[in-house]
Amino acid sequence: MCGIVGAIAARPVAGILLEGLRRLEYRGYDSAGMAVLDQGTINRLRRIGKVQALADACEQQPLPGGLGIAHTRWATHGKPSEQNAHPHMSGEGLAVVHNGIIENFEPLKQELQQQGYVFTSETDTEVVAHLLDRELQGGFDLRAALRNTLARLAGAFALGVIHVDQPHQLLTARKGSPLVIGVGIGENFIASDQLALLPVTDRFMYLEDGDIALLEADHIQVWDAQGQVAERAVTTFERSQGSAEKGEFRHFMLKEIYEQPRVMQAVLEGRIASGHLLEQAFGAAAGAVFDQVKQVQIVACGTSFHAGMVAKYWIEEWVGIPCMVEVASEFRYRPVVLPRDTLLLTLSQSGETADTLAALRAVQDRVLATLAICNVPGSSLVRESDLSLMTNAGPEIGVASTKAFTSQLVALMLTTIALGRRHGLSGERETELVAALEQLPGLLQQLLALDGPIEEMSAHFAEKHHALFLGRNVLYPVAMEGALKLKEISYIHAEAYPAGELKHGPLALVDKEMPVIAVAPRNGMLDKLKANLQEVRARGGELFVFAGCDQSIQAQEGVHVIHLPALPAVLDPIAFTLPLQLLSYHVAVLKGTDVDQPRNLAKSVTVE
Ligand code: F6R
Repeated sequence: MCGIVGAIAARPVAGILLEGLRRLEYRGYDSAGMAVLDQGTINRLRRIGKVQALADACEQQPLPGGLGIAHTRWATHGKPSEQNAHPHMSGEGLAVVHNGIIENFEPLKQELQQQGYVFTSETDTEVVAHLLDRELQGGFDLRAALRNTLARLAGAFALGVIHVDQPHQLLTARKGSPLVIGVGIGENFIASDQLALLPVTDRFMYLEDGDIALLEADHIQVWDAQGQVAERAVTTFERSQGSAEKGEFRHFMLKEIYEQPRVMQAVLEGRIASGHLLEQAFGAAAGAVFDQVKQVQIVACGTSFHAGMVAKYWIEEWVGIPCMVEVASEFRYRPVVLPRDTLLLTLSQSGETADTLAALRAVQDRVLATLAICNVPGSSLVRESDLSLMTNAGPEIGVASTKAFTSQLVALMLTTIALGRRHGLSGERETELVAALEQLPGLLQQLLALDGPIEEMSAHFAEKHHALFLGRNVLYPVAMEGALKLKEISYIHAEAYPAGELKHGPLALVDKEMPVIAVAPRNGMLDKLKANLQEVRARGGELFVFAGCDQSIQAQEGVHVIHLPALPAVLDPIAFTLPLQLLSYHVAVLKGTDVDQPRNLAKSVTVE
């Protein structure tokens, strides 16, 4: 995903911009560029490939000056090339960097071409540069020009703008894509992620959707979406928030569970706008691929496999095309039959899992296209796939995956919507799903309030050696993930079953020593699950039920119930995951195991 850095200072800014770009490399990119204003001239350098190539070019051709913008580009409109790299200019006097997608760039481009503007790139961004120039020619100042331009743009974006006639001002705006202002002493900055600016400041101002800000070296002014002057608080970044530190948390795993509201925001940012999905977030070729797909084959390992299992329910229900899911270590070693118009979807937190990579390599020449959903942008899986969608969960240190899993689920829901749109999913349904996704950050925050009751519940497991997880429908894979978490970190043997399978064998195991954890569905399956739970109680099994707020399951002797807050049913797999993560965490703490580095396990399984 693209990254933006900008700076206005009394000292040369090229080095600050380059370091900022290096710190944004994790977002993934294919080219980099920078424009710096010096004595009435904007000097621009752009290079395809790594930030280091841009740094080398800067050595040869230094860019002096105290006002500049820089960018790492991840191609969406037009191939990776120097011409398509940012910053984009209109004439010699105005330069723009952009992160996000301008959905209506085609009609805007035609309009501008008819008025004589000549485009030198295939990007949507160049439209912004020329629109701004047209407004400036119409007599507006740069801020008014930016406001008028934003009013014409549909989609999600963050922008940085400089102009030769305003050599002491850096303009910025955001709607749907991340952008933060770094507040310095006698110098100010912008970036897509505060990590880019940590070498120069630890004070940040977060813009709201629709905000425009004007930065001078010693002053920052913000206007809201209505054009009113707005105050935005400045917060100090605590170094302990750094992803590689635990901060106030006892374990990385707990920290990562608590990070999930923010991660939900990160995975959605730049992917949805005005109630619908931005398909271009999957890459320029995605639309054509999604049109032709007739079935999906998902391949993954472990936790990522469980995310794939959830997606199978979504894809078959909302898209109406077949979806197969298989663990990579099996898939890679058998003669699989794949129709040519299959989309191969690989899921991996690390992007380096040996079995998943081998599965991709084994069949990539036999399918329509390959799509990787991954948390590490430059990973092998992403590099070797045709399309990719990053989960933006940030580094996950705890070996047991938590935020990486829920961010995969969100990415998979976005993928399902993208596919559905090409296969008859109605506009209303898309709006409904996107509206539900928008509630996720707040919802997960509410779910964290269950931590206390879940910690109490965990005491029932401390002396147990086995546990059974039950789920139905889309919550069956969630039960599988719950069982995996519990066994990984507490070393309690745990198995998950679709609840309907109980009487076909596992019921024989149920007695008072076998706690049964059920995630209760909210569709027509609830009554069936209740019957299964009766079967457990009748054998003296103790039940632990996670239920929706409106479900009529009451606590009683031997039945412990935790009700989740009200939430849209489509979010159940994501919402029900969080309490199960907390349960395994607290059981593991009680048992005194090494929560973050459980025995025998590695974070990235790069061998068979
Ligand atoms: C469990 C866990 C593993 C991984 C699996 C695949 O908590 O994290 O099961 O999901 O090893 O790894 P990735 O997702 O990196 O391909």
